[in-house]
Amino acid sequence: MRVQLKGDAICTLCLVVALFTILYSQLSHLSLREEQRKGKKTTLGAMHKGLRHPAVLQRQAEGRETGTVPRIISAVKHNQEANDKDSVTTPPPLTVSAFDFRNYLRNKDNRKFDLLINQPKKCTRTPEGPFLLIAIKSLVEDFDRREIVRKTWGREGLINGAQVQRLFLLAIPKNKTALPTWESLVRQESLMYRDILLWDFLDTFFNLTLKEIHFLRWADEFCSNTKFIFKGDADVFVNVENIISFLDSHDASEDLFVGDIIYNAHPIRTRKSKYYIPETMYGLGMYPAYAGGGGFILSSSTMKKLSQACGQVELFPIDDVFLGMCLQRINLRPVSHEGFKTFGITKPSAAPNLQTFDPCFYKDLMVVHSLKVAEIWLMWNLLHNARLSCTQKKQVKKAFRWKIKTKEITNDYGT
Ligand SMILES: *[C@@H]1O[C@H](CO)[C@@H](O)[C@H](O)[C@H]1NC(C)=O
Ligand SMILES: *[C@@H]1O[C@H](CO)[C@@H](O)[C@H](O)[C@H]1NC(C)=O
Repeated sequence: MRVQLKGDAICTLCLVVALFTILYSQLSHLSLREEQRKGKKTTLGAMHKGLRHPAVLQRQAEGRETGTVPRIISAVKHNQEANDKDSVTTPPPLTVSAFDFRNYLRNKDNRKFDLLINQPKKCTRTPEGPFLLIAIKSLVEDFDRREIVRKTWGREGLINGAQVQRLFLLAIPKNKTALPTWESLVRQESLMYRDILLWDFLDTFFNLTLKEIHFLRWADEFCSNTKFIFKGDADVFVNVENIISFLDSHDASEDLFVGDIIYNAHPIRTRKSKYYIPETMYGLGMYPAYAGGGGFILSSSTMKKLSQACGQVELFPIDDVFLGMCLQRINLRPVSHEGFKTFGITKPSAAPNLQTFDPCFYKDLMVVHSLKVAEIWLMWNLLHNARLSCTQKKQVKKAFRWKIKTKEITNDYGT
């Protein structure tokens, strides 16, 4: 009996366990199915709404095919197109900057070109010669730039008691279709202003070195009596009065070369760069000190030495660096000056709380680079009518009622 009872109990226990496991497995199965059904229901529900109007469903189906999927395809296409465009648009600069160094080296000894338009009397206006000769690199087609320079900072005559003369350095335009009348324009300009030098070589970026050499040679031959020379670009603003007062304390018979001097610059070995120089052309890791492009001042004595030296230095396609090589050859250290801002002045970094065209701010500078024609005009006019207003501001403040306070303020601004 006892044994039978035990057996029964074990049996029922087993059965109960079995039943529970079956029930459990069934339950989990059910809940899974339930979830699946729920999921289906939502999608079905959504579809049912569309089903009310077969046309809508049709459109939705089309939309799914032509809308979503093709959109991805078209996006990919666009990307590809963009890539294609990129690969189409990037090569031109590449080919433009893919400068033919071999050809350059081959023609390097061809470095004497005729002067087609000369101004032999430029420096004979006064017996003692000009105090400052302004020489500006310009392209034939940039007539408007020359005009604005003539009307503003490049004026000839007596400035603060110093005789100033002006010249534009031109060569043959590369693109003659851009200005078919260039020859008569330049002849007319020369007749009118007597400030044009034109040489018989193509005016390209890599030929600027030729301009440098030819100008120095010209200055040595036709303007050796000038005291100083400013040589610069046509997109700069030059505060000639500041340059003259700076030069007043210098002797033209001593060496002087002043500008925005760049030290320890490395040659650029990236082929894509405009300034790419292969090692076959320049093997050293560093360029000599040279003046940045905005402009620089040199004395008559330095001009003569440089003219000699540059005639012996091998041609180098970057004109600023080439001149640095000439300086190195005569063992002359160029002097850096704060007043030369080669890359212009941007409002945020230079003077966050000042207007870029606050004339009082530009008063102490000598050369500001990268300006538009209108900006040059504006700056010159502000500086020249506004010298007044620079001091006027202070006068107004001084006349203000709280004298002590305003004095403090003007002092704060002054320092
Ligand atoms: C030359 O100038 C014309 C007119 O400005 C321009 O349409 C053309 O693209 C230029 N050609 C080159 C090679 O730069
Ligand atoms: C420089 O000018 C000469 C003479 O016009 C020309 O033959 C040569 O191709 C030019 N060089 C460069 C690098 O543009």
